[in-house]
Amino acid sequence: MKNLKARAQAVVSPVLGMYFDDFEVERGRGTQLVGRDGEKYLDFATGIACTVTGHCHPRVVAAIKKQAEKLLHICIGVAYYEPYVKLAEELQKIVPMKGAQSFFCQSGTEAVEAALKLAKYATKKPGIIAFQGGFHGRTLGSLSVTTSKMKYRDGYEPLLPEVYISPLDPQAVAGLIASHEIGGMIIEPLLGEGGYIEIKPEFLRELRRLCDENNILLIFDEVQTGMGHTGKWFACEHAGVVPDIITIAKGIASGLPLGACVAKQEIMAKWSPGAHGGTFGGNPVCCAAAVATIGVIKQEKLLQNATKLGNYLKASLQRLAARNPRLIKEVRGRGLMLGIDFGASEPVKKIIDFCLARKLVLISTGGGGTVIRVIPALNIKKAEIDKALAILAQALANV
Ligand SMILES: Cc1ncc(COP(=O)(O)O)c(C=O)c1O
Repeated sequence: MKNLKARAQAVVSPVLGMYFDDFEVERGRGTQLVGRDGEKYLDFATGIACTVTGHCHPRVVAAIKKQAEKLLHICIGVAYYEPYVKLAEELQKIVPMKGAQSFFCQSGTEAVEAALKLAKYATKKPGIIAFQGGFHGRTLGSLSVTTSKMKYRDGYEPLLPEVYISPLDPQAVAGLIASHEIGGMIIEPLLGEGGYIEIKPEFLRELRRLCDENNILLIFDEVQTGMGHTGKWFACEHAGVVPDIITIAKGIASGLPLGACVAKQEIMAKWSPGAHGGTFGGNPVCCAAAVATIGVIKQEKLLQNATKLGNYLKASLQRLAARNPRLIKEVRGRGLMLGIDFGASEPVKKIIDFCLARKLVLISTGGGGTVIRVIPALNIKKAEIDKALAILAQALANV
């Protein structure tokens, strides 16, 4: 039955990096994936942090089906339609900025492109500051602010001009502001592809102060951290710092392709009609899935579940780390967005392969693939966490 890999090798571009040598999936439901070989897997990777309500949540699927029967596409430039406007209304209620407005696209990288363009356009200043270890996407603009792996940039330089990569040091940031015309600053409140490293709240507060004093727009890239993974809708809420622009994607529509660039109304007011746009952005079916996703997160109290079970999972992983001090350097992160840092890629590869063979899906992160990320659906159950922990413990004993 397994033959997708062989077929793919003939027809699919080899550019795609694969976490596993050969893993073929047929279907998913909740926290379970079913392989093409009929085997059942417990999914703690969620399609790289996307299926926040689990695979094919019945309410999300019902909303998709209902919308698919009505209207697949019209383009927001041609006509207003309910799911686009409804989703913008729902986001306005959950983002940390008051009265924010939304622009929709298809992916995280496009949400970042939109944010960078908006920052340049609204401030009329060309410069962008980004931070070492950040990941913001693969298209040329967002790649210019990405440094989590320098390999991503190899072969594509020169990238966008007037981008300044700063260490996580307020003085370095102040120095860049003093010597360049900076319009925007972009940071993930918790580095995702950079290794699940939380940025210190005081550093985010200092960035907020520097942006306020220098007419710079502060962009929080919450593509990976957003939609409840850390136990709040957005990770920046833990630090109590409100950005000017927030980028969202991944979990927003439970796995359907959708991105959002959300900004304060007074900033959006400066973006002239036609200054940005797209044919498919905010597709009706994807927006309907996103509205349903927000509804499920609220109704099933999934932020609370992410906090409660996240604390339980983190404490359990820390105990596992204490029993394996030579292997594990640190357990970190928040809610159900946790990283286990091994400081080396070999044990990580061996462990994720071992876990896959025992039907647990875990994937790596970090510049050198040295961290295992634990990012299950927000409706994960304690018994499923315990099952995953038992497999992980076996894996640690075997490397
Ligand atoms: C923080 C962050 N920003 C942007 C992106 C790019 O999103 P996409 O892969 O949907 O283009 C990612 C993807 O991992 C991300 O983690």
